[in-house]
Amino acid sequence: MMNETKRNGRDIVAVSRLKKIYRMGPEDVVVLENVNLRVAEGTTVLVLGESGSGKSTLLNLIGGLDSPTDGVIEVSGNRISTVAERHLSGYRNAIIGFIFQFHYLLKDFTALENVMIPALIAGRAAAVARREAAALIAEVGLAHRSDHSPAELSGGERQRAAVARALINSPELILADEPTGNLDERNASVVLALLFDLVRKMKKTMIMVTHDRSVSRKADRSYVLEHGALRDL
Ligand SMILES: Nc1ncnc2c1ncn2[C@@H]1O[C@H](COP(=O)(O)OP(=O)(O)O)[C@@H](O)[C@H]1O
Ligand SMILES: [Mg+2]
Repeated sequence: MMNETKRNGRDIVAVSRLKKIYRMGPEDVVVLENVNLRVAEGTTVLVLGESGSGKSTLLNLIGGLDSPTDGVIEVSGNRISTVAERHLSGYRNAIIGFIFQFHYLLKDFTALENVMIPALIAGRAAAVARREAAALIAEVGLAHRSDHSPAELSGGERQRAAVARALINSPELILADEPTGNLDERNASVVLALLFDLVRKMKKTMIMVTHDRSVSRKADRSYVLEHGALRDL
């Protein structure tokens, strides 16, 4: 029993009876009906689903970007279901790294500076932030592009910079929403391999949502989001 517990580690994410309804005039749109999910520390979880199945909604709720209609979300032992709870835990910056389909790099800054920014916001000294950003930029294979602006980077390179930026504050949990959705197949597979390798090397936990079933080969656990609930793939 002890060994089992140790091997499985603690749960970084615990979602129970999660419900999300968008009230649209007279029509209620039930996006998440009853989602239950536990993600053990150091594991990678994939959530597959058709477009419109609620993948982004689920990830945004876990990331504290939105509030559930009902149910409980705990991340790293903090309840974050309400705005007040999220404030209390000083939650998002410290614990979570987001990667979206669109890179959201700031166009007036270089790749290196974009990676540095979350570290500066977190209060790290500029020299330290620069050193750590440079190391991550090298990890994602962008050392030769670190002084380029986003406009001078290819789509794949921009997503690699976004990966580095998501990891700079060493967040416990990486949330990735269709991170390769804008890339061609070859670049998508490069970015995916890099992201999964880096997450494992840094012993982080990741939830990725995508409609691309082939990604399930890379993840420790895969689920399908359908009719507002998760089932095993
Ligand atoms: N802010 C919102 N208001 C109303 N409906 C929304 C809102 N956000 C998403 N939806 C609806 O919720 C459903 C799920 O959306 P989403 O989570 O973006 O799905 P996915 O990421 O799987 O494509 C869709 O039907 C979408 O139209
Ligand atoms: Mg989506």
